Amino acid sequence: MANRTPLIAGNWKLHKDCAESIAFAEALNKAIPADIDVDVMVAPTFTALYPVCECLKTSPIAVAAQDMFWETKGAWTGEISAEMIRSCGCTHVIIGHSERRQFFGETDETVNAKLKAALSAGLIPVICIGETDEERKAEKTFEVLETQVKMGLKGLSAAELSSAVLAYEPVWAIGTGNTATPEMVQEVHAFLRKVVADGFQKELANAMRILYGGSVKSGNIAELMALEDVDGALVGGASLETESFSGIVRYK
Ligand code: 13P
Repeated sequence: MANRTPLIAGNWKLHKDCAESIAFAEALNKAIPADIDVDVMVAPTFTALYPVCECLKTSPIAVAAQDMFWETKGAWTGEISAEMIRSCGCTHVIIGHSERRQFFGETDETVNAKLKAALSAGLIPVICIGETDEERKAEKTFEVLETQVKMGLKGLSAAELSSAVLAYEPVWAIGTGNTATPEMVQEVHAFLRKVVADGFQKELANAMRILYGGSVKSGNIAELMALEDVDGALVGGASLETESFSGIVRYK
């Protein structure tokens, strides 16, 4: 059984301007003990990345972008490359969030292109997957997730994927208050580990951190973290306040 360091990640989505992001990062830095034994990550908006990275330079809190583009440079108006994200001081990037898939045309192919570019730039990718309500009701959950993992990670070796993090976020649980039950989460996470073991490598599957996301709060984090195959959380709404996020980080 691999020793996986838990990762608690906050996705700020379209919240907080620069001043608010800096003030919040400072507050989190004070609230989260420097010697905390879990990895902590926050994902501000693109425009707040540089100031938040500067503010958290000497803290244990890592900073991620919420998305990226796969090209390194060129005539791609409005896009941001992995290198640019690195140059802000970020170490992580979220790829394939369901909101990107739902509203901005993200596909497993674009996830794969972004993942390759992120890894080439030395960013740690947090790759999001998850089924919709209709897919779960149609009993397609496992099929959908298997495709998302296989297509998203296609063409990469176990060595290249060694830093990669998976985040299982059932779409129907995001922002709804409907957390998946512990049984559902454990069943899916164990399945995902098997997909990675069969499609890539057993050692990679054992070492890979698989986060759960979808209405995670300080009140349900402990029971989720107690599950064998849950290695952390990707938190939306409850990551926007110091007390709730630091409460989740200190779930033990
Ligand atoms: P909520 O925690 O608000 O449900 O959002 C989850 C999420 O989408 C994190 O990326």
